[in-house]
Amino acid sequence: MLCLCLVAFVLKREAHANILVVGSANIDTFLPVERLPAEGENLMVQGLPTDNVPGGKGCTQAIAAAKLHHGRVFFMGQFGYDGKVLIDTLLQSSVDCSLSNTHQDIPSGRGYVFLTSSGQVSAVVSGGSNQLGWKLWKYAWEQRQTNPSLLAQIFEQIRSTQCTCIMLQQEVPSHVNEIMAAFRQSHSVFLIQDAGGADREIPLHVLSSLDFIMPNESELDRLLKRYNVDMSSASVVDKARQLITLGAKHVIITQGSKGATSVSSSGEVLHQASLRTTQAVDETGAGDCFRAAFVSALLQRRSLQQCLQYGCAAGACAVETKGAVPSIPTRPAVEARLHELLKQPVGKSHDDTSNELNEPSSSPNDGETAHVLPTADPVAV
Ligand code: RIB
Repeated sequence: MLCLCLVAFVLKREAHANILVVGSANIDTFLPVERLPAEGENLMVQGLPTDNVPGGKGCTQAIAAAKLHHGRVFFMGQFGYDGKVLIDTLLQSSVDCSLSNTHQDIPSGRGYVFLTSSGQVSAVVSGGSNQLGWKLWKYAWEQRQTNPSLLAQIFEQIRSTQCTCIMLQQEVPSHVNEIMAAFRQSHSVFLIQDAGGADREIPLHVLSSLDFIMPNESELDRLLKRYNVDMSSASVVDKARQLITLGAKHVIITQGSKGATSVSSSGEVLHQASLRTTQAVDETGAGDCFRAAFVSALLQRRSLQQCLQYGCAAGACAVETKGAVPSIPTRPAVEARLHELLKQPVGKSHDDTSNELNEPSSSPNDGETAHVLPTADPVAV
């Protein structure tokens, strides 16, 4: 009896584990276009732009985590003088922003999203406070040998969240992610890196400290190019394996309407087909919802296949509404989508266009828990 209570307590604690998102928040402007402009071309926006939409990869992932996960969610970021809309939106979603800062002398990050009539998106981002607001962190990182107390203070702030998982993106300076990788060296947390954001190399020592790296297909290509590897004609699985050769432990590739693929250093490859059932309106934020949902399932010790399913269910819901933050689904909506999937034959979806790995190599059973995974034990710091 005591043993059963203990197991129930541990499982409940993990389901309620805290998540810390360290990263960017942007105010987005949506520019509806018939197609993307060619190089050197001027293109007219179709109708009017939609302005002041909360977004940015960090902010969107934090709110998605708060909506989909049972534990507390913290956001550590840098807002500009115009960041009230972002702070209000995060707080309304019960994201704890007490470790974030507001800078009165710089603007917040801005995302300019080209949205085509088929729901596909491309964006350019102005970093603003996401780039310029981390000066103290830069100083702490540069002075870590001569004045380690500054870095120790940052570590203490991270510890105060009692997080079990830290989520990173590439929309803040690389020294921020370096600090989180250094934290991971001495703390038992999952470290998850979204490869979206700046086109830059992830230093190999950071890559090898991550528990999961999550690029989409184009980010996987450009990341490999940063390591001087050109594999443009190879399969995503082979590309992910190349990243593993470079030190990654686990690569999750989000593939839009093709679903998602997981490749781990143990050699295991899993694929989950997309769960989309309706026309995509806007893909903005779908990858962020996938990542937050994946992490929530991971912290509940779901099987890897189930983590992919939950992520794909969240991503499928997100493409049905415009905007990054506005499109984040509720937990019941994601669970309903998942329920639909479990009624389908394993690995298939209505619009499955994936070619290489339609069948997952392990069968997902509803309620199955098991086999999660990384090197870190998911014990709160
Ligand atoms: O991931 C979606 C986000 O990417 C958008 O909100 C935009 O700001 C860009 O950062």
